[in-house]
Amino acid sequence: MADLRFDGRVVVVTGAGAGLGKAYALLFASRGAKVVVNDLGGGRHGDGSSSKAADAVVDEIKRNGGTAVADYNSVVDGEKIIKTALDNFGRVDILINNAGILRDKSFAKITDQDWDLVHSVHLKGSFKTTQAAFPVFKKQNYGRIIMTASNSGLYGNFGQANYSSAKLGLVGLANTVAIEGRKNNIFCNVIVPTAASRLTEDILPPDLYAELKPELIAPVVAYLCHESCQENGSIIESAAGWAGRCTIVRANGSLLRRRPEDDVSIENVRDNWSIIRDISNAQRLESIQDATGALMSSLDGLRSGTDGVGGEESDVFQFCNKDTILYALGVGASVTAENELKYLYENSEDFSVLPTYYIMPAMQVMFTSSAVSRAVPGKEIGLEQVLHGEHYIEMVGEVPPQDGKLVSKFRISEVLDKGSGAAIVCDIDTFDQNGNLVARNQCVTFAVGAGKFGGPRTGTKAVPCQPKPSRNPDATLSQKTSVDQAALYRLSGDVNPLHIDPNMALMAGHKTPILHGLCSLGFSVRLVLSAFAGHDTSLFKAVKARFVKPVIPGETLKVDMWREGNRIFFETSVVESNQVVIAGAYVDLKSVKAALPSSPKSNMSNLKSDAIFEFIVDQVKQDPGKAKAIGGVFLYNITKDGKQAKQWTMDLKNAKVFEGKPDGKPNTTLTVSDEDFLLLAEGKLNPQQAFMKGKLKVTGNIMLAQKLAPLLKTNAAKL
Ligand SMILES: *[C@@H]1O[C@H](CO)[C@@H](O)[C@H](O)[C@H]1NC(C)=O
Ligand SMILES: *[C@@H]1O[C@H](CO)[C@@H](O)[C@H](O)[C@H]1NC(C)=O
Ligand SMILES: *[C@@H]1O[C@H](CO)[C@@H](O)[C@H](O)[C@H]1NC(C)=O
Ligand SMILES: *[C@@H]1O[C@H](CO)[C@@H](O)[C@H](O)[C@H]1NC(C)=O
Ligand SMILES: *[C@@H]1O[C@H](CO)[C@@H](O)[C@H](O)[C@H]1NC(C)=O
Ligand SMILES: *[C@@H]1O[C@H](CO)[C@@H](O)[C@H](O)[C@H]1NC(C)=O
Ligand SMILES: *[C@@H]1O[C@H](CO)[C@@H](O)[C@H](O)[C@H]1NC(C)=O
Repeated sequence: MADLRFDGRVVVVTGAGAGLGKAYALLFASRGAKVVVNDLGGGRHGDGSSSKAADAVVDEIKRNGGTAVADYNSVVDGEKIIKTALDNFGRVDILINNAGILRDKSFAKITDQDWDLVHSVHLKGSFKTTQAAFPVFKKQNYGRIIMTASNSGLYGNFGQANYSSAKLGLVGLANTVAIEGRKNNIFCNVIVPTAASRLTEDILPPDLYAELKPELIAPVVAYLCHESCQENGSIIESAAGWAGRCTIVRANGSLLRRRPEDDVSIENVRDNWSIIRDISNAQRLESIQDATGALMSSLDGLRSGTDGVGGEESDVFQFCNKDTILYALGVGASVTAENELKYLYENSEDFSVLPTYYIMPAMQVMFTSSAVSRAVPGKEIGLEQVLHGEHYIEMVGEVPPQDGKLVSKFRISEVLDKGSGAAIVCDIDTFDQNGNLVARNQCVTFAVGAGKFGGPRTGTKAVPCQPKPSRNPDATLSQKTSVDQAALYRLSGDVNPLHIDPNMALMAGHKTPILHGLCSLGFSVRLVLSAFAGHDTSLFKAVKARFVKPVIPGETLKVDMWREGNRIFFETSVVESNQVVIAGAYVDLKSVKAALPSSPKSNMSNLKSDAIFEFIVDQVKQDPGKAKAIGGVFLYNITKDGKQAKQWTMDLKNAKVFEGKPDGKPNTTLTVSDEDFLLLAEGKLNPQQAFMKGKLKVTGNIMLAQKLAPLLKTNAAKL
């Protein structure tokens, strides 16, 4: 990269007789600039008037082949300094307001004179000089201005009340000059140096003082003044060969009242104080417009009220690995299932959170809100009246946070009058800590008996359900829930006693506690991801589902799936009762990923026998003794269209049933078509007849095969 040069530029440096100012002057001159070296002369208290300091710097610049002129005016007469530049060089491009004096005393002892002097030199001097240069900059449509502030202004410093107030005053001056100058390519920035100079030499410890070389700061200031630098309105702190931007941030803050008609009490302020001062979610606001805008959006929750449609409430949801793992267990993920360790072990390489987990923050804000209970005008809706009717969740952006804090904003979008009840459409947007939208949830709840209030019957806000295709499913996966499924799932946050307390369940008209609809949904989506996304959660986009009937913990869920492009339609039913429990449902994927062909469970071709084998798996798990009594190792060779489609091993000796071949040689191999296997299991096809007709081929120990019948029959009865 070429050197940054200042050829043809005219630079005015105030207070350039020594220290930082001198370092600036020498550096600019060495890079081709013509420099006005302003210095009043004098000692640390700036009250002498010798011209020697400025002259010495000019001489040094000239000796090095540069161009410079001395100026001895006080910065309070800023226009005279600018005139020196115009008289000698015909222009001015860069103004470094560096001149300063110190008058340290404790606040109580400051005299008016000391106050005025300090403010004159620092604040008024910078103002006067900048104001004189500004019209010149404007005319040439170019200018770079530096104000010099101080740590004692940003942070305060004992004994420097007059100095620190003047120095922070310069930050305010620079902020406004930056705004007023920008359309004319005039940029104004603040440097906060800690440099060894006449001003600091007897204030700092000697070893630190030695590192505070002005030469280590000067390049930062020079860069800020180069035409290629677009920085404007910034505060840059620099010392000892380090530099960094300093900024003022604002906490997210807290609302001090809930409704516009509420007052704010001193106690409201006290009770919210820890949130008011918490800067962990602080933001830098770039302008007064941004700051006002941010305030307005903080007030959003207030303005819209919380009754009926349109009210918005928000809640913070905190979660960690343990929570997402507990959830995964709650929706049936298992270490024994292919590819599911990633949901259950935080150290696995591709640790993942099931996408339906992000329904939890939405449910939390809904539970904590009382808005649903007030959604229907004139009716108070009780928890026992409310049914979760439909749910939609859509993930936004790439990978959502896997732990930490999420903020959910909840509002009621629509309340429909369905006669027998009210359908309440709730939209919940969930954001990460940086305010980025992570997920959109929509929950349609049905309030039984809350209808006939004269509201609209149909609405526009709810994401519609979709009918399943009329052909046979492209894939089917089944999984038995555990009798303790609801007891496990509720630990993820839905603690409605209906799902655990037998008495509550009876009162609600159920024989036993029922499984959460969202738990069945979690099962279903996980199985869809297994069949069509290779458990790659990043492929998940959205799911919509309608809850039709309850599931009893312990029942087997069967998910039929149909693929159309990247949309997987699905329907979930309970195998034992043959009842549909989730309908009108689909999962949208970003793309479909067939599971890895090498893995034994990856062949997701739709075989009817799979469900039966899943049964046998459960059967054998529940009663291993019965399996062991039969003994032997059976290989099932399931065919489809005359070709081998899948193999299942029933290792009854060890009470293990799994997809694929056994380790050693099986005692008996049975070859049967998928369809005939189903007929056999249902008892519609007699094994002997099947054998005679060649529909069932048995090799190895044929006698042993006959012992299998009871195992198959039990399942047939259950189907
Ligand atoms: C501020 O005021 C005190 C007391 O009047 C004075 O001694 C001190 O020099 C002033 N500070 C600066 C930076 O001039
Ligand atoms: C400074 O100028 C730049 C370039 O025009 C502009 O983007 C920026 O907003 C300005 N900053 C301020 C604080 O006005
Ligand atoms: C903050 O103030 C609001 C309004 O008074 C109150 O409802 C809320 O509980 C307060 N927050 C905390 C954390 O006390
Ligand atoms: C920010 O403040 C608003 C109220 O002013 C509150 O609703 C929201 O939850 C807060 N956000 C965070 C991340 O704390
Ligand atoms: C199955 O075969 C193994 C040898 O491969 C044999 O040891 C075992 O006794 C057989 N089991 C039965 C039940 O026939
Ligand atoms: C499975 O059945 C197919 C088709 O009948 C046959 O080609 C294959 O050899 C059988 N496999 C075994 C292990 O018996
Ligand atoms: C699944 O098995 C069937 C039958 O053997 C085969 O035609 C199909 O290609 C396999 N699919 C995959 C994804 O391996």
